[in-house]
Amino acid sequence: MNLQYKKQGFCRCVLELRRQKCLLSVNFTTKKVISQNEEEVDAYGLTPSSRLLLTNNGNKEVLSLSPYVLAVLHPATVTSFHFIGSWFQQKDATPSQAMPFQLAHHGMSFYDYWGNITEYGDLLNDAMANDSGMLKAVIKDFKPVFEGLTSLVDVGGNTGAVCKILIEAFPHLKCSVLELSHVVADLPNTENLKFIEGDLFQAIPQADAILLKSLLRGCSDDESLTILKKCRESIPCNGGKVVIIDIVIDSTKDEHEVLEAKLSFDLLIMVCLPGRERSQKDWEKLVLKAGFTRYKITPIFGLKSLIEVFP
Ligand SMILES: C[S@@+](CC[C@H](N)C(=O)[O-])C[C@H]1O[C@@H](n2cnc3c(N)ncnc32)[C@H](O)[C@@H]1O
Repeated sequence: MNLQYKKQGFCRCVLELRRQKCLLSVNFTTKKVISQNEEEVDAYGLTPSSRLLLTNNGNKEVLSLSPYVLAVLHPATVTSFHFIGSWFQQKDATPSQAMPFQLAHHGMSFYDYWGNITEYGDLLNDAMANDSGMLKAVIKDFKPVFEGLTSLVDVGGNTGAVCKILIEAFPHLKCSVLELSHVVADLPNTENLKFIEGDLFQAIPQADAILLKSLLRGCSDDESLTILKKCRESIPCNGGKVVIIDIVIDSTKDEHEVLEAKLSFDLLIMVCLPGRERSQKDWEKLVLKAGFTRYKITPIFGLKSLIEVFP
């Protein structure tokens, strides 16, 4: 073996050790794995967190957050961070008029880009479907939230991943997804699941319950208020509810890593959309201002909480 080859091998080894040390420190690898003989041995292995990053090759039965991470790290998203400086220095523009994302993409908003650049759109639809797939792991614990409902509209429900999980758990539930036409135009309706092309700022169909998952975080307070008021008009005063699934920041109780992750998402939203991650007080202000009388927050999975909002 010549010296050059030995040097390269050594460098690779050092790099690999540095990488493993880094992954260990964030709990993405473990140093102990169970051998075929069921004994604990010293070796690098995956943890529950890193298992979620394995691709499921389209098999929705296997939970995976790999498409979500790929969407967050996509050059179209990351490039937008380079435009924060220009965004701060803009004159005569409110934050919702031109986000860093728009500055990076010739004025195209996040949702326009999602709708027009096929590769990005497919990646984001896949990301949202897989993120929603996580609900499958916890739906049994949240059955009382949906029990007794006969109809539900998932507003901005993308390709219907959440509705499909709900229908599996509640076969009598009639679900509709209200979405932009480029997302749902080609999706087939089934007996329990209808796709409605429309603009959520114009009209929201009537139902016992309205679901808003990962939608309001992308909307400004004014936009969120408009949407919530429309939701309130679309549900019955007695027995109706709005179910929000989103992040709730609790800077006093969240563990350090959890808070850090929630605030990182807040930065991501700031770059791409006019919304923000909200604290319990922020959510309370919004829902009461929209005319609802009470709400209940329950942590659901990962960083997300489920917020039931009642007229
Ligand atoms: C962040 S995604 C959330 C998707 C889904 N609720 C989920 O959690 O998987 C927001 C969704 O809202 C849809 N959307 C955005 N603006 C809309 C509008 N004006 N009318 C209807 N849908 C809209 C987008 O197409 C996208 O699918």
